[in-house]
Amino acid sequence: MVGGGAVAPSASAGGRQDYPGGLTPFIFMASLVAATGGLIFGYDIGISGGVTSMDPFLSRFFPSVYQKQAEAADGGNQYCKFDSQLLTLFTSSLYVSALVASVFAASVTRTFGRKWSMFAGGVTFLVGCVLNGAALNVTMLILGRVLLGIGVGFANQSVPVYLSEMAPARMRGMLNNGFQLMITLGILFANLINYGTDRIAGGWGWRLSLALAAVPAAIITIGSLFLPDTPNSLLERGRADEAKRMLRRVRGTDDVATEYDDLVAAGEASRAVSHPWRDILRRKHRPQLVMAVAIPLFQQLTGINVIMFYAPVLFKTLGFGGSASLMSAVITGLVNLVSTLVSVFTVDRVGWRALFLEGGVQMLAGQVAVGALIGAKFGFSGVAEIPKAYAAIVVLFICLYVAGFAWSWGPLGWLVPSEVMPLEVRPAGQSITVAVNMLMTFAVAQAFLPMLCRLKFVLFFVFAACVVVMTLFIALFLPETKGVPIEDMTAVWKAHWYWKRFVDDDDGDGPRPTRDIEMGVVGCAGKANN
Ligand code: BGC
Repeated sequence: MVGGGAVAPSASAGGRQDYPGGLTPFIFMASLVAATGGLIFGYDIGISGGVTSMDPFLSRFFPSVYQKQAEAADGGNQYCKFDSQLLTLFTSSLYVSALVASVFAASVTRTFGRKWSMFAGGVTFLVGCVLNGAALNVTMLILGRVLLGIGVGFANQSVPVYLSEMAPARMRGMLNNGFQLMITLGILFANLINYGTDRIAGGWGWRLSLALAAVPAAIITIGSLFLPDTPNSLLERGRADEAKRMLRRVRGTDDVATEYDDLVAAGEASRAVSHPWRDILRRKHRPQLVMAVAIPLFQQLTGINVIMFYAPVLFKTLGFGGSASLMSAVITGLVNLVSTLVSVFTVDRVGWRALFLEGGVQMLAGQVAVGALIGAKFGFSGVAEIPKAYAAIVVLFICLYVAGFAWSWGPLGWLVPSEVMPLEVRPAGQSITVAVNMLMTFAVAQAFLPMLCRLKFVLFFVFAACVVVMTLFIALFLPETKGVPIEDMTAVWKAHWYWKRFVDDDDGDGPRPTRDIEMGVVGCAGKANN
């Protein structure tokens, strides 16, 4: 068989890479705090869809959309009733600023360490919450969203890397997926809060929805002050003694010599590189660069954010009443959370590829069914009344799709890019990932409502086709990295049927971590096939 499976189970099966040390309380707490970075991201994802479906919010800030919606309520074209560029700009402005911020976050993360990047993100985010909760006009709303975006850019740039570096290799899947778990928790909280604030008499509930983002922001801001730096980052910044002490502490054992040596080698390689942005373009980093771009690109082309942002709007389009729409969004939020838990507890056993491939097939089935069901009722005219039972079946298939995403592309979309980079280009690589993710999130958010208006139900088939392409991509090009220590990843690429030609073809300058050289491709590939 071609494809990543040929090199699958990874170098980790070999005894030497299985460094001593397990899940210590110290590392658990540090990971928990860091993962709350996911909460602020998730809360933002979940909050805007609900708020933009609240009448008092719409009539105050987007009166033309409010008007159009009222007309459509009397039987007009359902596909187009929320189509407004200004409204989508409210949702997507956050993603543009997150994109820009993530590029700057790379130098902060590399120079000052991962924790200060999280802190910077938390503070900016807090200011954004205040502006949004107090908004008097669209400008304040959008400015607030831009500040939130800067916070998200910094947090998403530093948190996944932090988690991947802290985790013992054999638990990296679980600990890193904690980030996605927090994202889904944030989305669910946001959905529940919208459901509650929508009922507040006086029409100011949306203010509460927007301002409450300050709660997760305060947790990550204060929490980050207490976070220890990762040993990898300490070594990268030349603080060897501290790094060794920290490694002992996080692993809960003094027996860290082997892992420490590998980190030192990676740290040396990293310090030799003064231009990470240029270095990442070198041929030998091609596989990692492709993953840094392709994984977030595909993650967004699953169409997940159509559901996350617009679930209430989408359900309203399907003929649910206002409150019922928010409730359905709560249901998809719950499915998202619970299915992410499945991933947290299985990923280190079944491996990344198995989850990616199963999730892909499941999402495909869900998308096709939703497209067909909506098409059968609304056709191209977009005018129809749908019976309750029919709408419930649509929700059911949406849930099937969400579950598929939640145990595959959701968590792994953040895990894979954060772990495959060598230390010297890791912050730059993660910035590329965040930037592509945000760009695509922006594009999907901005394009969905106008596309739904024009492509109608066919839009769901477009996303389904993307799912086919990305699933094939994983099957062919993503090697299994389950259990491989983060500073040993090069060996995995060297053993891959396609990528080995790039990595073998080392174009010279700059030391490599000694481990890659010591292990050799043969040793690694040999272990890989057991
Ligand atoms: C994605 C988000 C998405 C969320 C849904 C994350 O991994 O990056 O765009 O909204 O998952 O749970």
